[in-house]
Amino acid sequence: MEVAVLASGRGSNFQSIIDASIRGELPNANIKLLIVNKKDAYAIERAKKHNIPCYVVESRNKKRTEFDLEMLEILNINKIDIIVLAGFMRILSPRFVNKYKNKIINIHPSLLPLFPGAHAHRETIRAGVSESGCSVHFVDDGVDTGPVIIQKTVAIDKNETEKTLADKILPLEHQIFPKALDLLTSQKIKVKKGKVTIETD
Ligand code: GRF
Repeated sequence: MEVAVLASGRGSNFQSIIDASIRGELPNANIKLLIVNKKDAYAIERAKKHNIPCYVVESRNKKRTEFDLEMLEILNINKIDIIVLAGFMRILSPRFVNKYKNKIINIHPSLLPLFPGAHAHRETIRAGVSESGCSVHFVDDGVDTGPVIIQKTVAIDKNETEKTLADKILPLEHQIFPKALDLLTSQKIKVKKGKVTIETD
């Protein structure tokens, strides 16, 4: 399947997908292109290094519909089947999301449905909960509300800070994101009434 990755920044999750692909762990996924909405996103360097075509679609000062149309054009031309949001900090329009229903996945640094949105670590620490983690989920037209595919959990220590928690969770993101992409591109995921079931070998 043809895969597009969308990113806004550092791109370490994008890198985890590139690395998994190089290791042969994504046999049914072709990482065809990267789209970034910020021209200084470090993810661009990662794409260059691996000869993955990169498109910059600036989102600043642009209406959501206009931005989404520009992206849809790139995705159509390249016959993209699956979209991976790897630290993509922009909400997609319902029109966009519905066009790719159950074909867009996102990585989020909390145990969804807890702590959706842009400040997951901060809110997790503030809530004083004893564990957190990360989730890969399908994207629907809410913010981090779509069906969860895989989660991984970490314990929260007494003196945990936003930074230590983020550092602890990131390596787990890098494990479950490529895994979920493999399950999706291998057509092992079914979604029924908003719940995911995974076919096991
Ligand atoms: C990750 O923590 C991801 O869970 C969140 O944004 C961050 C992106 O990091 N959605 P990176 O750009 O993949 O390094």
